[in-house]
Amino acid sequence: MPLPPILAIETSCDDTAAAVWADDRLASSVVAGQRVHERFGGVVPEHASRAHERLIVPTIRAALDEAGVEMGDVGAVAVTVGPGLAGSLLVGLSVAKGLALGAGVPLIGVNHLEGHVYSVMIEAPRPPLPFLCLTVSGGHTLLTLVEEGFRHRELGRTRDDAAGEAFDKVAKLLGLPYPGGPHVDRLAADGDAGFLDLPSPRLGPKGRRGDALFDLSFSGIKTAVRYWLADLGAEREATVEQHRADVAASFQRVVVESLVEGVREAVDQTGVRAVAVVGGVSANRGLRAAMAEAGESDGFEVFVPDPAHSVDNAAMIAVTAAAKWAAGHTAGLDVGIDPSLAL
Ligand code: KG4
Ligand code: ZN
Repeated sequence: MPLPPILAIETSCDDTAAAVWADDRLASSVVAGQRVHERFGGVVPEHASRAHERLIVPTIRAALDEAGVEMGDVGAVAVTVGPGLAGSLLVGLSVAKGLALGAGVPLIGVNHLEGHVYSVMIEAPRPPLPFLCLTVSGGHTLLTLVEEGFRHRELGRTRDDAAGEAFDKVAKLLGLPYPGGPHVDRLAADGDAGFLDLPSPRLGPKGRRGDALFDLSFSGIKTAVRYWLADLGAEREATVEQHRADVAASFQRVVVESLVEGVREAVDQTGVRAVAVVGGVSANRGLRAAMAEAGESDGFEVFVPDPAHSVDNAAMIAVTAAAKWAAGHTAGLDVGIDPSLAL
């Protein structure tokens, strides 16, 4: 018997999202973006909390309407409890608690990172267990082995900036709006990827230094772009105007290469031939294409979510909650947020 409908809420950063999971499938998914951060060039936590507070009820209403589900039919309320911005998480959790209390249904707390991993379980084809999972988002960049029972074994991570953060910082240096990742993606398609010689983010074991498999550092590449810009002096503005796409393509190439190479070696070492790529940066067309190509030549299968489920959304929280509920894991109404929750 399928579970009763689950209403899922996600407010960990700057997207207010709600989704309904019913009859073992996604019934609706609504994301309200927050334009307020654009003029600051990054997420302003205080503005994010206020915007969530304003958007959360209409977003939940829209998700229920789209699914054709009424609050009285909802069997459980799921919500992201971390990691993320404290003020943002508190809005989602408080609303979820109120709804669960009012409806007399269980509350299911979900880890946002686990949600990203589960985003490849929203639709078929789904990866078989065990699979390797590359999570590349604005806050995280890590490679894990997802084993039976959805246990996560970490194989490596970035030592400093996350991949998405690097995209956003380089985009900002190029005068592109926030979040810059999608703009770099679009520009890179028409740029000369050999224009700038940038340092590889790979540290080890075959990279420049470091010891762990899939050790990465993205801060150097952003610094290299900054130095290149500084050296242009008076020519800076004109050169950026002329070569914005070339810099975007050069940057995207080394980032994508480092991620693909790391995954290739992990496949080699573990013998696991199913690879999921999730998180905001998995929407990147260059990364998707390069990963698919590597899978084809090395003989591993690549699983990516629909681009709408790469970036933050509540569908991934809903599908995670369905698995947790089926396994009997619900939270008490006294559960709290954990802004630095790990996978
Ligand atoms: O997963 P996500 O929506 O939020 C976090 O959990 O962090 O990821 C957001 C990040 C941002 O840094 C954004 O610039 C990046 O994902 N991103 C992209 C693309 N779409 C979103 N980066 C590169 N190419 C894209 N198409
Ligand atoms: Zn995310």
